[in-house]
Amino acid sequence: MLVLGIETSCDETAVAIYDGGRGLLAHHIYSQVLLHGEYGGVVPELAARDHIRRILPLIHQAIKTAGIHKKELEGIAYTKGPGLIGALMVGAAVAKSLGYALNIKTIGVHHLESHLMVSQLESPKPQFPLIALLVSGGHTLLMRVNSFKSYEILGETIDDAVGEAFDKTAKLLGLPYPGGPALAALALEGNSERFHFPRPLIDRPNLNFSFSGLKTHAVNCFNQHRQDPQTRADIACAFEDAVVDVLVEKSRRALEQTGLNRIVMVGGVAANKKLRHRLADTLKVLNAEVFYPRFEYCTDNGAMVAYNGWLHLMNGESEDLAIEVKARWPINEAF
Ligand code: KG4
Ligand code: ZN
Repeated sequence: MLVLGIETSCDETAVAIYDGGRGLLAHHIYSQVLLHGEYGGVVPELAARDHIRRILPLIHQAIKTAGIHKKELEGIAYTKGPGLIGALMVGAAVAKSLGYALNIKTIGVHHLESHLMVSQLESPKPQFPLIALLVSGGHTLLMRVNSFKSYEILGETIDDAVGEAFDKTAKLLGLPYPGGPALAALALEGNSERFHFPRPLIDRPNLNFSFSGLKTHAVNCFNQHRQDPQTRADIACAFEDAVVDVLVEKSRRALEQTGLNRIVMVGGVAANKKLRHRLADTLKVLNAEVFYPRFEYCTDNGAMVAYNGWLHLMNGESEDLAIEVKARWPINEAF
């Protein structure tokens, strides 16, 4: 089955074409980073308007790259939520209209599930059941994944998402949006011994996270010291160390508590190298396997939507023509 996937939940317009037999045939992305950079964060109305400008040319480009005719498409998947409502509406409206025009099935998929399922495009693919650590700009979750569509939340953030904490701390340090990769790069210059940040909720037995205190800690640290380049790098390093330690320790406990020995890390923050290395080092000792998708599949992309949509369509699911999106949509309530 040949499926077009459309992702417009936030600040990336992304499109991909996936075929069950031939795999991923096209994969294009237009990032709005420059547009929002000027404002230091995503401006929802601008995001929606830019998706409108980019989406059709990107779909044409993907069809060309895949070397197919649009009439060969057999299904269309789009991100139904969670995300920015206006941005989601663009993808949903285009998917439904094109589905109607081509007389093919459409399916709205869950953004976080797409982040998770894209790991199945890698080889070797992680086998279920497993633990998923889902770390993005809007979410931080530890889940037990029994199989496709069977998700049990073990822990989640009680305040900021980890990507959000990276972005806010980066802004404080004067780094450009999106802050996560910029903060990680600055942290490489930092001295990890100079500042020690707290490890929030590490003493609690549950698997929840809290990151807003770390951001406040960074503000205080920044105000109390000379704000020279080395201090900024040292703060970035201490912040990143604290975040990584907490994520790795709670992931380790999730494996211990469930008796599972496999973990997959997905979402934008899964692109963080320190987190990848420390998680791998810790789990090696436990003889547990860790998987993460390639970098381009970690941050928002169309491949994850096309593949997840393909899974749902192959499962016999599809929708009517009504356009409905969900700004908030807990993954354990999605099925
Ligand atoms: O999954 P994603 O692209 O979008 C959402 O679904 O939110 O994640 C974006 C988040 C941003 O907060 C960004 O700063 C963060 O992922 N991020 C990183 C890195 N690359 C992206 N955070 C830390 N280190 C990175 N290398
Ligand atoms: Zn995402």
